[in-house]
Amino acid sequence: MAQKIVFSGIQPSGSPQLGNYLGALRNWVALQEDYSCRYCIVDMHSITVRQSPAALEKNARDLLAFLISAGLDYKKHILYAQSHVRAHAQLAWILSCFTYMGELSRMTQFKDKSQKHEDNINAGLFTYPVLMAADILLFGTELVPIGEDQTQHLELSRTIAARFNNLYGDVFKVPEAYITRTGTRVMGLQEPTRKMSKSDDPASANVVYLLDEPKSILNKFKRAVTDSDNTVRFAPEEKPGISNLINIYSAVTGKDFTDIEKEFEGAGYGKFKTAVAEAVISELEPIIKKYNEIRADAAFLDDILKEGAQKADAAAEDIMRKAQKAVGFISL
Ligand code: TRP
Repeated sequence: MAQKIVFSGIQPSGSPQLGNYLGALRNWVALQEDYSCRYCIVDMHSITVRQSPAALEKNARDLLAFLISAGLDYKKHILYAQSHVRAHAQLAWILSCFTYMGELSRMTQFKDKSQKHEDNINAGLFTYPVLMAADILLFGTELVPIGEDQTQHLELSRTIAARFNNLYGDVFKVPEAYITRTGTRVMGLQEPTRKMSKSDDPASANVVYLLDEPKSILNKFKRAVTDSDNTVRFAPEEKPGISNLINIYSAVTGKDFTDIEKEFEGAGYGKFKTAVAEAVISELEPIIKKYNEIRADAAFLDDILKEGAQKADAAAEDIMRKAQKAVGFISL
């Protein structure tokens, strides 16, 4: 039986951080065992917020090198940049004609981002979920690994797919979300009630970047905001800082919360923080080693991107053509 198709995307805005790794990338690697995966660096989504062009390109290459180092199998699966595959923009246009302003206005991410970027509420920011729907629907995707913050967008993708199919027959597969387990929702180290985000201030100790020096990782964990009762206990409401650290430690070591509580009974926060940092550093070590080997090899990375774009192009062709035919574009 043919393997189910998985699609997911990650933005190259900012440097990849621990939340991306534990919340998404590790899961992407695991899914490769059982599914046929398309993983996309969604640079077209990134420009909905103003980027420095040089930084965007650098970040995208860093991210590609990181994804490969973390174990994405670009030979067996498809790894590519969104902007290299025309079908994303082509299908997004078609789908935008089947998406209502009202639906897009209700997207909480749009509301948040337009508040955050008041000076640049562009049309792309508004139609962002349509492009995301195109990404997914192009490939006959069945499963979409995403974080909780993207479920509303996925729900809209499903609505658009079903609407289109209703009008024109079965062109698209209606995708399902594959929600990463909540255990790997990583919060900021300085603001443990908010998700760790690579768009946060890079100078703050809130975010652990995957390419941080081990020394800096250790420092950030040591400075992590906690509470004053000095017991390592999982209680997200009451003790968001410590609970976040327990979560991270659990994700990295595979130990469960009660074992961690026992392990650090009476140990105090200082010792625990160091243990978390060390566990994270040793998890990242082999990845960083590989990253340092390949990051400078521009030709190697370019070849992967070229091959990925070709494979994605070919994989998208059939559905793209069906969608164009469905709406009545001249077929040749
Ligand atoms: N919007 C997603 C995010 O910011 C990234 C993304 C773009 C994506 N296209 C996608 C995720 C398609 C899953 C499927 O996290």
